Amino acid sequence: MKSVQRNILLNPGPATTTDTVKWAMVVPDICPRELEFGELTLSVRDDLIKIAKGEGTHTCVLLTSSGTGGVEACLTSVVPADKKVLIINNGAYGERMQHICDAYSIAHVDYNIQPGLPVDLDHLENLIKENLSSLSHVAFIHHETTVGLLNPIQKIGKLAHQYKLLTIVDAMSSFAGMDIDVKRDHADFLISSSNKCIQGMAGISFVIANTQELLKTKSIKRNFYFNLLANYEYLNKNKQFLFTPPVQTLYALRQAINEYFTEGAENRFKRYDDMYLLMKKHLLSLGFKFFVDEAHHARLLTSIIEPSHPSYSFNDMHDYLIQKGFTIYPGKVGGAQTFRLSNIGAIDTNDIKHFLEAFEGYLRERNIVMKL
Ligand SMILES: Cc1ncc(COP(=O)(O)O)c(C=O)c1O
Repeated sequence: MKSVQRNILLNPGPATTTDTVKWAMVVPDICPRELEFGELTLSVRDDLIKIAKGEGTHTCVLLTSSGTGGVEACLTSVVPADKKVLIINNGAYGERMQHICDAYSIAHVDYNIQPGLPVDLDHLENLIKENLSSLSHVAFIHHETTVGLLNPIQKIGKLAHQYKLLTIVDAMSSFAGMDIDVKRDHADFLISSSNKCIQGMAGISFVIANTQELLKTKSIKRNFYFNLLANYEYLNKNKQFLFTPPVQTLYALRQAINEYFTEGAENRFKRYDDMYLLMKKHLLSLGFKFFVDEAHHARLLTSIIEPSHPSYSFNDMHDYLIQKGFTIYPGKVGGAQTFRLSNIGAIDTNDIKHFLEAFEGYLRERNIVMKL
């Protein structure tokens, strides 16, 4: 197997992949209607359910799209026409859920919070109580990648279930990167994609759905390509995707899942956490400040306040680091000047160590000294 140039992606996905995942895409051409491909599809579906700990209660609907497609599929497939979804918005991806609902005229109650700040569960409960008769679902982002904030999935889920509301959880950048258990966490519909912590290639989104609740969505007719129930039923009946799948991306996802099981969930979470701890220690010692409070930090991505130094510019720093093989990411919060570093994908503490050396080299060459 020829090795492929290794770039260390510190953007929050598509993440760095292994050579074995890259090479898994090089397969003989195959018609996706063949049984062999159907069996591959079912094995991927079943293993994603297993990773979410949803065996016996949940299924998994695979879709050809980026992550947003999965979120759009879910919102448009499960919220009844005469009901509303309560959307918690503490970052750009929460806001995106609201935009999706607006595009389809899905009524929503918004709980808008300043990006980076945590959910106030009492306030959430009051909002639920005030709107209870019109609500059917509570939707939120697990790891709000805009800033690196972790929303408490289990507490929000428990509260929603207490009021007999279903949950829609965007776990795009946390699934397979931290401990998620759809039963324990009261997650009825949980969305993620192939190119983040599962460490596959971009092109597949998936919804881990409570099967009984999914089966109740038959009368909801708002979409076509992205109808979750139609996609679920077709795969069940025919062992085929309803529409043309991204064939090679599915082979890569199969390999990525194999590598997830070989590594072991706990080891993956620890590898990610070790990278975060190393990055944190080093950046704090250099005098950097983080946007999100440690208590609410998901520890998968860090939003860092930019240096207010005349010779600093994000683009200059980006271009310097990319020459050395490291891709960093700009900030995404209105008002605050930040840049982001994530610690997901097929990378480890050694890569972070080399990144930090290069990062320090940049600061030194530009004479950027942080105030301690
Ligand atoms: C939490 C979250 N939701 C949704 C998305 C959108 O995913 P995509 O860009 O694959 O459509 C992202 C992308 O980073 C994300 O982090």
